[in-house]
Amino acid sequence: MASSSSKVLLVGLVALMCVVLVSSIPRNKNKIYTVNRWYALPGYSETPFNDCGSKGSTIQKVEVIPCDNDNACQLKTGTTATFKITFVPKVNTTTLRARIHGIVAGIPLPFHCPQEDACQNSNIVCPIVSGQVYHYVVELPVLKSYPHVNVKVKWELLSSDGQDVVCVMIPAKLT
Ligand SMILES: *[C@@H]1O[C@H](CO)[C@@H](O)[C@H](O)[C@H]1NC(C)=O
Repeated sequence: MASSSSKVLLVGLVALMCVVLVSSIPRNKNKIYTVNRWYALPGYSETPFNDCGSKGSTIQKVEVIPCDNDNACQLKTGTTATFKITFVPKVNTTTLRARIHGIVAGIPLPFHCPQEDACQNSNIVCPIVSGQVYHYVVELPVLKSYPHVNVKVKWELLSSDGQDVVCVMIPAKLT
Protein backbone atom coordinates (compact mmCIF):
# COMPACT_ATOMS: atom_id res chain seq x y z
CA MET A 1 0.00 0.00 0.00
CA ALA A 2 1.17 3.50 -0.84
CA SER A 3 0.47 4.92 2.62
CA SER A 4 2.28 2.18 4.49
CA SER A 5 5.29 2.33 2.18
CA SER A 6 5.55 6.10 2.63
CA LYS A 7 5.31 5.53 6.38
CA VAL A 8 8.19 3.08 6.10
CA LEU A 9 10.15 5.64 4.07
CA LEU A 10 9.44 8.34 6.63
CA VAL A 11 10.45 6.11 9.54
CA GLY A 12 13.60 5.18 7.63
CA LEU A 13 14.45 8.81 7.01
CA VAL A 14 13.84 9.73 10.63
CA ALA A 15 16.03 6.83 11.78
CA LEU A 16 18.75 7.85 9.31
CA MET A 17 18.68 11.44 10.46
CA CYS A 18 18.73 10.42 14.11
CA VAL A 19 21.97 8.58 13.38
CA VAL A 20 23.30 11.63 11.52
CA LEU A 21 22.22 14.13 14.11
CA VAL A 22 22.91 12.24 17.31
CA SER A 23 26.35 11.22 16.09
CA SER A 24 27.06 14.82 15.15
CA ILE A 25 27.00 15.98 18.75
CA PRO A 26 30.43 17.40 19.47
CA ARG A 27 32.19 15.23 22.02
CA ASN A 28 34.56 17.94 23.10
CA LYS A 29 33.98 21.56 23.97
CA ASN A 30 33.65 24.03 21.14
CA LYS A 31 36.74 26.06 20.68
CA ILE A 32 36.88 29.80 20.45
CA TYR A 33 38.83 31.22 17.56
CA THR A 34 40.45 34.56 17.50
CA VAL A 35 39.72 36.60 14.38
CA ASN A 36 43.34 36.29 13.23
CA ARG A 37 43.38 32.53 13.55
CA TRP A 38 40.02 32.38 11.79
CA TYR A 39 41.09 34.24 8.69
CA ALA A 40 44.38 32.34 8.62
CA LEU A 41 42.53 29.03 8.28
CA PRO A 42 42.90 27.37 4.87
CA GLY A 43 39.73 27.07 2.80
CA TYR A 44 38.28 30.34 4.07
CA SER A 45 35.33 31.38 1.98
CA GLU A 46 31.86 32.81 2.23
CA THR A 47 29.20 30.10 2.18
CA PRO A 48 25.89 30.35 0.31
CA PHE A 49 22.86 30.34 2.62
CA ASN A 50 19.18 31.24 2.74
CA ASP A 51 17.76 33.54 5.38
CA CYS A 52 14.78 31.63 6.77
CA GLY A 53 13.30 34.50 8.79
CA SER A 54 15.91 36.31 10.84
CA LYS A 55 13.40 38.79 12.29
CA GLY A 56 15.72 40.00 15.03
CA SER A 57 18.86 40.66 13.01
CA THR A 58 20.56 41.32 9.72
CA ILE A 59 22.76 38.41 8.65
CA GLN A 60 26.02 39.68 7.22
CA LYS A 61 27.81 36.46 6.43
CA VAL A 62 27.79 32.70 6.90
CA GLU A 63 30.97 30.68 6.63
CA VAL A 64 31.65 26.99 6.81
CA ILE A 65 35.30 25.99 6.94
CA PRO A 66 36.31 24.03 5.01
CA CYS A 67 33.72 24.35 2.23
CA ASP A 68 34.96 22.78 -0.98
CA ASN A 69 31.95 23.46 -3.15
CA ASP A 70 30.23 26.71 -4.14
CA ASN A 71 26.70 25.27 -4.04
CA ALA A 72 26.76 22.95 -1.05
CA CYS A 73 29.58 22.66 1.43
CA GLN A 74 31.12 19.23 1.47
CA LEU A 75 31.39 18.07 5.02
CA LYS A 76 33.96 15.30 4.97
CA THR A 77 33.31 12.59 7.50
CA GLY A 78 36.12 12.10 9.94
CA THR A 79 36.96 15.80 9.94
CA THR A 80 35.81 18.89 11.80
CA ALA A 81 33.84 21.74 10.26
CA THR A 82 33.65 25.22 11.71
CA PHE A 83 30.45 27.24 11.30
CA LYS A 84 30.51 31.00 11.63
CA ILE A 85 27.52 33.34 11.45
CA THR A 86 28.09 37.09 11.43
CA PHE A 87 24.99 39.10 12.33
CA VAL A 88 23.84 42.49 13.59
CA PRO A 89 20.89 42.20 16.00
CA LYS A 90 17.94 44.58 15.82
CA VAL A 91 16.83 43.58 19.32
CA ASN A 92 18.30 43.36 22.79
CA THR A 93 18.19 39.99 24.45
CA THR A 94 19.76 38.67 27.65
CA THR A 95 19.89 35.08 26.38
CA LEU A 96 20.39 33.38 23.03
CA ARG A 97 19.41 29.77 22.44
CA ALA A 98 20.57 27.64 19.51
CA ARG A 99 18.16 25.31 17.71
CA ILE A 100 19.39 23.15 14.85
CA HIS A 101 17.44 21.03 12.38
CA GLY A 102 18.73 18.80 9.63
CA ILE A 103 16.47 18.88 6.60
CA VAL A 104 16.63 15.79 4.40
CA ALA A 105 14.30 15.48 1.41
CA GLY A 106 12.26 18.45 2.70
CA ILE A 107 11.63 16.93 6.12
CA PRO A 108 12.95 18.98 9.06
CA LEU A 109 14.26 16.75 11.80
CA PRO A 110 15.16 18.14 15.21
CA PHE A 111 18.82 18.12 15.97
CA HIS A 112 19.79 17.63 19.59
CA CYS A 113 21.99 20.64 20.15
CA PRO A 114 24.77 19.92 22.66
CA GLN A 115 25.36 23.58 23.39
CA GLU A 116 21.90 25.16 23.44
CA ASP A 117 23.21 28.21 25.20
CA ALA A 118 24.53 30.15 22.22
CA CYS A 119 26.34 32.50 24.61
CA GLN A 120 28.70 29.73 25.75
CA ASN A 121 31.78 28.52 23.84
CA SER A 122 30.59 30.42 20.79
CA ASN A 123 32.67 33.59 20.75
CA ILE A 124 29.53 35.52 21.84
CA VAL A 125 29.06 37.34 25.12
CA CYS A 126 25.52 37.96 26.32
CA PRO A 127 23.51 40.12 26.74
CA ILE A 128 23.11 40.80 23.03
CA VAL A 129 22.87 44.49 22.22
CA SER A 130 21.15 45.80 19.08
CA GLY A 131 23.39 47.35 16.45
CA GLN A 132 26.60 45.53 17.40
CA VAL A 133 28.33 43.03 15.13
CA TYR A 134 28.45 39.47 16.50
CA HIS A 135 30.56 36.57 15.24
CA TYR A 136 29.01 33.29 16.33
CA VAL A 137 31.58 30.52 15.92
CA VAL A 138 30.94 26.84 16.58
CA GLU A 139 33.07 23.83 15.74
CA LEU A 140 31.29 20.65 14.70
CA PRO A 141 32.97 17.26 14.30
CA VAL A 142 31.76 15.40 11.20
CA LEU A 143 31.93 11.81 12.32
CA LYS A 144 33.05 8.88 10.15
CA SER A 145 29.74 7.11 10.86
CA TYR A 146 27.66 9.70 8.96
CA PRO A 147 25.81 8.48 5.88
CA HIS A 148 26.67 10.35 2.69
CA VAL A 149 23.51 12.40 2.10
CA ASN A 150 22.54 15.92 1.13
CA VAL A 151 21.29 17.90 4.09
CA LYS A 152 20.14 21.46 4.69
CA VAL A 153 21.39 22.65 8.03
CA LYS A 154 18.80 25.02 9.54
CA TRP A 155 20.49 26.96 12.31
CA GLU A 156 18.41 29.23 14.54
CA LEU A 157 19.39 31.50 17.40
CA LEU A 158 16.41 32.45 19.54
CA SER A 159 16.00 35.43 21.84
CA SER A 160 14.68 35.27 25.42
CA ASP A 161 11.12 35.72 24.11
CA GLY A 162 11.48 32.98 21.50
CA GLN A 163 11.95 35.20 18.46
CA ASP A 164 14.27 34.11 15.65
CA VAL A 165 17.20 36.47 15.96
CA VAL A 166 19.03 34.30 13.43
CA CYS A 167 17.58 31.74 11.03
CA VAL A 168 19.88 30.50 8.29
CA MET A 169 19.68 27.50 6.01
CA ILE A 170 22.99 26.09 4.81
CA PRO A 171 22.99 23.48 2.05
CA ALA A 172 25.57 20.78 2.70
CA LYS A 173 26.66 17.41 1.45
CA LEU A 174 28.11 14.75 3.70
CA THR A 175 30.95 13.05 1.85
C1 LIG B 1 19.06 48.17 23.40
O1 LIG B 1 19.59 48.71 24.57
C2 LIG B 1 20.31 49.92 24.40
C3 LIG B 1 20.84 50.36 25.75
O2 LIG B 1 21.46 49.32 26.41
C4 LIG B 1 19.41 50.98 23.82
O3 LIG B 1 20.16 52.14 23.54
C5 LIG B 1 18.78 50.49 22.53
O4 LIG B 1 17.84 51.41 22.06
C6 LIG B 1 18.09 49.15 22.76
N1 LIG B 1 17.60 48.66 21.47
C7 LIG B 1 16.38 48.16 21.29
C8 LIG B 1 16.06 47.71 19.92
O5 LIG B 1 15.58 48.07 22.21
